[in-house]
Amino acid sequence: MYALQTKDLVSNGDFGHDDTLFGLIADDIYQQGYSIRHNALPDSLVQALTIQQQAIPSIKFKEAGIGRDNLYAKNEFVRTDEICWITGETEAGQRWLNWATALQVFLNRRLFLGLFSFESHFAHYGPGNYYKRHVDAFKGEANRVLSIVVYLNSGWALHNGGELVLYKSDTDKEGVKVTPLQGTIVAFLSEEFPHEVLPAKRDRYSIAGWFRVNTSNKDKVDPPV
Ligand code: OGA
Ligand code: MN
Repeated sequence: MYALQTKDLVSNGDFGHDDTLFGLIADDIYQQGYSIRHNALPDSLVQALTIQQQAIPSIKFKEAGIGRDNLYAKNEFVRTDEICWITGETEAGQRWLNWATALQVFLNRRLFLGLFSFESHFAHYGPGNYYKRHVDAFKGEANRVLSIVVYLNSGWALHNGGELVLYKSDTDKEGVKVTPLQGTIVAFLSEEFPHEVLPAKRDRYSIAGWFRVNTSNKDKVDPPV
């Protein structure tokens, strides 16, 4: 069992047509803290998101920064991709958010993760772009709990580079390489798995998202409204 703060696995209720996939993702996370599933995101959703992403004018993609709020800083040494947040204003965006919410509900019931909110963005890595080794959340901050990445690239070849490398610990130097192929879903505990995106040799499109817990107190509302 992976070191999650869970009670125990509970039986599967009726969560609709994505039940099987959600169950596999939950089992993977329970056993190893991460899940890599190919051809996993429903095809029609992949198509809708691909069309949506292609329709975003390049001006709406912003150079990605690191950190939140006042800590937000652009740092070309760390990452050179560009991003566009998904707000649900478009039908495809809303369908994606609905899918993510269904996964959130499932994982909360199955693994007692207490996931509270979800944020996500399209990302575009042009040729040569990368994202150096990093973690999505820092221990103790208990903020981003689960990271999810899905890919929108049809026909990605080995020589196109751009793999996600997921490291199993702070000291792991080898990692697991994931080809950013259309429909592949990667989910992992945000604090536990350093990861990086190797330089892509062609345009690389993905969606990255984070499920967060509610760490609000009387002085601070988090996630911000
Ligand atoms: C991120 C990230 C991985 C990927 O945006 O934080 O690690 O494969 N993305 O796009
Ligand atoms: Mn990341």
